[in-house]
Formats: sequence, structure tokens, C-alpha cells
Amino acid sequence: MTGATDFDIATLRARRTNKWHKFPPDVLPAWVADMDFGVAPSITAALARLTRDQEYGYAARDGVLAAAFARRMERRFGWRTDPADTVAIGDLVQASFSSVMAFSEPGDAILLQLPSYPPFMRAIEDTGRRQIAIPMRDDGTRWVLDLGAHEAARDPRLRMLIFCHPQNPTGRAFSRAELEGVADFAIRHDLVVVSDEIHADIVYPGNKHIPLASLHPEIAARTITITSATKSFNIPALRCAVMHFGAPALKDRFGQRIPSRLLGSPGVTGVDATVAAWDDGQPWLDEILAQLRANRDWLAATLAAEFPAVTMRVPEATYLAWLDCRALDLPCPAGQFFLDRGRVGLNFGETFGANYAAFARLNFATPAAILREIVARMGEAVRRR
Ligand SMILES: Cc1ncc(COP(=O)(O)O)c(C=O)c1O
Repeated sequence: MTGATDFDIATLRARRTNKWHKFPPDVLPAWVADMDFGVAPSITAALARLTRDQEYGYAARDGVLAAAFARRMERRFGWRTDPADTVAIGDLVQASFSSVMAFSEPGDAILLQLPSYPPFMRAIEDTGRRQIAIPMRDDGTRWVLDLGAHEAARDPRLRMLIFCHPQNPTGRAFSRAELEGVADFAIRHDLVVVSDEIHADIVYPGNKHIPLASLHPEIAARTITITSATKSFNIPALRCAVMHFGAPALKDRFGQRIPSRLLGSPGVTGVDATVAAWDDGQPWLDEILAQLRANRDWLAATLAAEFPAVTMRVPEATYLAWLDCRALDLPCPAGQFFLDRGRVGLNFGETFGANYAAFARLNFATPAAILREIVARMGEAVRRR
């Protein structure tokens, strides 16, 4: 081990991050999607260069991020993109809000997979749109998408689909056949699709990330792919993301509704770190992926062996485990239970959809020793309940 995953609690708590400071100091955090690791050496070098040269004047980096995005998509996913079809933006939440505002009107309906990353619900509700839920179904081995129910009950004002792929929190990496189903559905119902692919780099062996827009030009023409290096390269505070429009006409429509000056632009630290990550960070990420995979497998095996009333479908992607605690039959939400009784800070299931209070999301991107302590505390809480 080169130390990429070697961090102790004191070091992690000394970081001024939300992850380590939301809860009281006796709580071990396993919630927001940051990793308790470092960053790739290429990122450290890029940021050190900025500091050394005091290079904080208005930036001259036209097209640099778009070009790095195109290189990365081609190299990693075999997806050819034109840098001219991208827009640089501060973060994905902003990208999803602005897409909703550009491609729908207040009162329009938007489809969303549930359970869902909470800000997607906000992007629909806070802008006066209506959410139509697509509850994912646990088929006994994994969570699947059921679009069939929406064929018949067609809402005349259905305009968009917010699609999370790989999916947070279920960890699904959708197969080509599933993606084709999504694409056919979107085309049949004339929907614009926001495809959030921020977790695309964290995909485990046996699975493959296929960008939705890479399927064929027909789905690309109605898809805005939003992504960044922030999840996989552990730099979410640097605020840098890319929106890719699958056809120039889609980008023009967006530009007519959302003035580019309103969106602002990412800062130099975000741009330089993202380019360094995408171009030169893969050896570091490969090492991290090996640790994440080991953590995932250990977690699944330990839950099954030691407290089988908490189940998880082994995530195909992401460093998030969606824990089903319904069999515990708790008198309170599962997240609250593990916080109060185990001093472990998970994401509360009900924030991913009102019906999921008996679920919790556990972020296993942490050194193995900390994960063991988190799970030991949870096991103790379950045994004492
Ligand atoms: C699916 C998904 N989209 C977006 C984000 C956040 O992106 P950003 O920080 O760029 O808004 C996250 C963070 O966990 C996420 O899981």
C-alpha cells in the first residue's frame, strides 16, 4: 500500500469538512459522499503549482476543461464527444436545477427514480414542477427500474426524466438493455433527459458504465449528461462540473433560457484539479477502487453473517450502500436509530423519498479500520435494541 487509503480519525476530523463536523465528536460519520482518503498526486501537483505561482488572476483556460472531458469520455468509456457541446459549471446540483428550468415550465411533470439523491427532488419542487416517482423495485438481487407503469398513466405535461446512472443510493450500474429501455421510453414520450453520471468512475468488475447519450444519436439529441471528477477523485469542495448536450440544438435551447452569465464558471482550482484528475489520476483511482471493492465485499459479508436483519444489494457502482432495515422493525427511522444507539452518522433513508425511513445509506469510502468500527457500533446497537 502506498498510503492512498491510510488516514486516521484524528487526521480526518482535523479537516474542516461537513462530513466530519455535522455530528458531535463521538459520532463516526458515514454519510455525505466524500471519501476519507486523499487525492491523486497529479491533483496535489496542480494545486501546488497554483499556490507557488500565485496564479489567481482572471483565468486563461478557454476550452481546457471541455477538451479534458472529451479525452476522458473517449478513453474511459469509448464515447466520442465534441468539446463544443459542453458547458462548464460549478456543480451538478446547479446543472440539474438549470436544466429543469430550461426544458420545462412550472406545473410540468418530471419523472424521477426513487429512492433519489435528495437535491433532484428539490430541483423539481423548488422550481414549481411536479415530481412523478418511478419507485425502483428490489428484485431480490438488485434494484431495477420499472418504467412500464408510466406507459399507461401518461401525464399530458410530462416533459423530462432525471436519470441517475450509476444510481445513488442503490448503486446500480444500468446494463445496455436497461439503458435502451430508458432511451426508448424517453423518445416515445418526447422527454428531455438529465443523465447524472457523476459516479461513472466508481464501477466494480463485472459491470461497465455506458453513458446514456452514447447509445445512439436519437437519445443523445435529448440528453444532457452531467458529470465531474469530484466524487471519484475526492475534490467536491473545488466546485467544477461539466454539462454535455447531445446535440447543438439542445445546447442552443438551454442557452436561450439560461443566460450563461447567470451560471458563472468554475474557479481555477477546480478546473486544474479536474484536468489533472482526468488526464493523470487513474493510477491513484485504481488503487482507491481496489480498497472500495474490498470494503464493499467485507461490508456485505459482515452484515449477512452478523446482523442479517439489515440487508443490502451489493452495489455494482458507487461507494454507497443502501441498507434495508425493515426487518429490524424499529420504532424510529433507521438513520436516527443508528445515530442515537450506535453513534454512527448515516444518511437517513427518508431524505431519499418519504417511504424510505426504514432504510439508511452508508458511505463505505473510508479506511478499513474505520469501516470496521462503524459496523461494530451498528451491530452493537442492533443486538442491544
Ligand atoms: C448523484 C449525485 N449527483 C450530484 C452530486 C453532487 O454534485 P455537486 O457537488 O457537483 O453538486 C452527488 C453527490 O453526492 C451525487 O451523488
